[in-house]
Amino acid sequence: MVQSKLYSRVLGTGGYLPSNRVTNQALADRLATRGVETSDEWIVARTGIHARHFAAPDESTSDLALAASQRAIEAAGIDPQSIDLIIVATSTPDFVFPSTACLLQSKLQIKNAGAAFDVQAVCSGFVYALSMADALIRSGQHRTALVVGAETFSRILDFDDRTTCVLFGDGAGAIVLSASEEPGVLASALHADGNHAGILCVPGHVNGGVIAGNAFLHMDGQAVFKLAVHVLEKVAVEALEKAHLTSGQVDWLIPHQANIRIMTSTCRKLGLPQERMVVTVGEHGNTSAASIPLALDIAVRDGRIKRGQNVLLEGVGGGFTWGASVIRF
Ligand code: UT7
Repeated sequence: MVQSKLYSRVLGTGGYLPSNRVTNQALADRLATRGVETSDEWIVARTGIHARHFAAPDESTSDLALAASQRAIEAAGIDPQSIDLIIVATSTPDFVFPSTACLLQSKLQIKNAGAAFDVQAVCSGFVYALSMADALIRSGQHRTALVVGAETFSRILDFDDRTTCVLFGDGAGAIVLSASEEPGVLASALHADGNHAGILCVPGHVNGGVIAGNAFLHMDGQAVFKLAVHVLEKVAVEALEKAHLTSGQVDWLIPHQANIRIMTSTCRKLGLPQERMVVTVGEHGNTSAASIPLALDIAVRDGRIKRGQNVLLEGVGGGFTWGASVIRF
């Protein structure tokens, strides 16, 4: 008997942004009270960001993940109890441990999740998590996965550092991925190079009950920019080759939403028209691991991404990490 090939396929998507929307002007006014100078003009011109959302003081990463997951589960039309794998990509977990994925399982009241764990690959986290979930489903070990990117980066921003604090926001995006005989995730390519750890990091840790080192985000923006532009094109080509697709067959490009200049450059290098790129950076800022699933959810819900279309997702971030996935939606 010939066994048909097993794939993992997206059944539904969800997203959540905290209600506190902070415009560039509001942020600039807030920073001015600390003697930190910035402007709407600078932020828009250098990044494409107009606003970002910040979580309320009592809102944690798992709360954001919960709201996005509930929407994804509803869109998928599944019984949450059928979820047997939960992966949360985050670099801003609620606690050192337990994992945000376990907290999410509890909040969703999923009795027997099979496995729940966090993936920490910063802004590439969602692509890493998607690739893990896909492999675990294709191997037959799990059948229905909840894959989430959720962040509260506002908690690790140094509001005295204008070179970083204007760039990031909070949010969560989620997908339900399930075993299917129809093609879904076609290919993924992941990479890491820890030699670049210092250009984007939060160099603090807990020791003896206190934080040792610096627990604020530090970034060498120009070094990250150069590396990002270089690796994003390469990894996109690699994933497309693995999927046996050309860039002309890509219906939608969803790059990590960090800076519109990096995104348009990647899109141009791939020979794709800018209209085929989903852009949310203007309204969300950089939400790290949440940026790709949030953008995916927005383009699915507004009807741009349709069933059967090819979507190229790609992320890059601290570690240094980068990766791409090609999915047939
Ligand atoms: O999520 C992971 C991936 N992260 C990224 O992809 C981020 C990659 N990097 C970037 O997006 C850009 O490098 C930045 C947006 C961070 C910076 O843009 P840039 O065009 O590389 O600016 P720059 O660092 O060369 O700074 C230009 C000037 C400097 O002033 P001087 O030295 O020329 O007088 C900065 O001090 O802009 C100044 N500056 C600011 N001015 C107003 C830096 N930040 C600000 C600010 N407001 N917020």
